[in-house]
Amino acid sequence: MADILLSPAQTDLREKLKSIMRQIKAETTPKEIEKLKASFKTLLDQADPVVIAMAEQDLAQEGMSMNEFLAVCDIHLELFREKIQNPDLKVPEDHPIARFQEDHRVILSWMDKLRETIKEIANYDNWNEVESHLAKVKFLLEKLMEAENHNVRQESALFPALEQKGIEKPPAIMWQEHTEMRQDKKALLLLFEKAKEMDFTLWVNQMYTLSMRLYEKFLLHTQKEQNILYKVALEVLSQQDWLNVKEATEEVGFFALSEEKK
Ligand SMILES: [Fe+2]
Repeated sequence: MADILLSPAQTDLREKLKSIMRQIKAETTPKEIEKLKASFKTLLDQADPVVIAMAEQDLAQEGMSMNEFLAVCDIHLELFREKIQNPDLKVPEDHPIARFQEDHRVILSWMDKLRETIKEIANYDNWNEVESHLAKVKFLLEKLMEAENHNVRQESALFPALEQKGIEKPPAIMWQEHTEMRQDKKALLLLFEKAKEMDFTLWVNQMYTLSMRLYEKFLLHTQKEQNILYKVALEVLSQQDWLNVKEATEEVGFFALSEEKK
C-alpha cells in the first residue's frame, strides 16, 4: 500500500495500534486478551480505517505470520462490528430509501464474502491450488464494481434534492467517500490482476488488508447514510420530492441484487 502522508497524531496512533496488535499476538491467556481488546477498542475508536489498515500492513511486512495477522484482523472486525448500528428506517417497500438500504445489505454481504474468500486463500501456499478461489474473488470484485450504480443513483437523484433544500455538506461528504471507495475497488482490481506474478503471501496480505479497509469504510459510510443522511432526507423532502427522486433513480437504473451471472 502506498504510504500516505499522516499527521503526527495519526502516526502516533499507527504506532500505538501496532504495539497493541503485537501484544495481542504474543498473548495466550483469554483473560489477558480480553484486557488488551479493551485498549485496542479505544484506539480503534480514535483512528480512521486508513491508519488502521496501514498499521496492519506494517505488521504483515514485519513478518507476522499469516495466521497471526488474520487473528488480529478478526479481533479488529469483531470490535468494529459491535460499534456499528444501522437503524432500520421505516419506509414503504417501493420507497427509494428502501432500495438504498437493501443495496447496502447486499453490498456488505459481497464485501464480507470477498474478505472470507481471501482468508480461505491464505490456507494455501501457492497459486496452483487456489484457481476456484481466484475466480470467486474476480466475480465478487465485478459485482462490487456493478454496485457503483448505487452511488450514482444517490448522487444524481437524492443528493440534488437535498441540495435544493439547502442541505449541502452531508451529501458532499458522502460523495467524497464514494470517490475514495471507488479508488479502493480499483486498487483491489489492479492488485487482483497481479495474482500469479507476485509472491503468494505478499499478495494475500495486501488483498486482505485492502478488502478489510474497503469493508470497514463501507460499514462506516452506511452508518452515516442511515443515521444522518436518510433521516434528514425523510424529514425535509415532501411527498412530491420523493416522487421526483424515485423517477430520477429509475432513470439511472438498478444493479442486480442477485449473484446470478448475467
Ligand atoms: Fe453512499
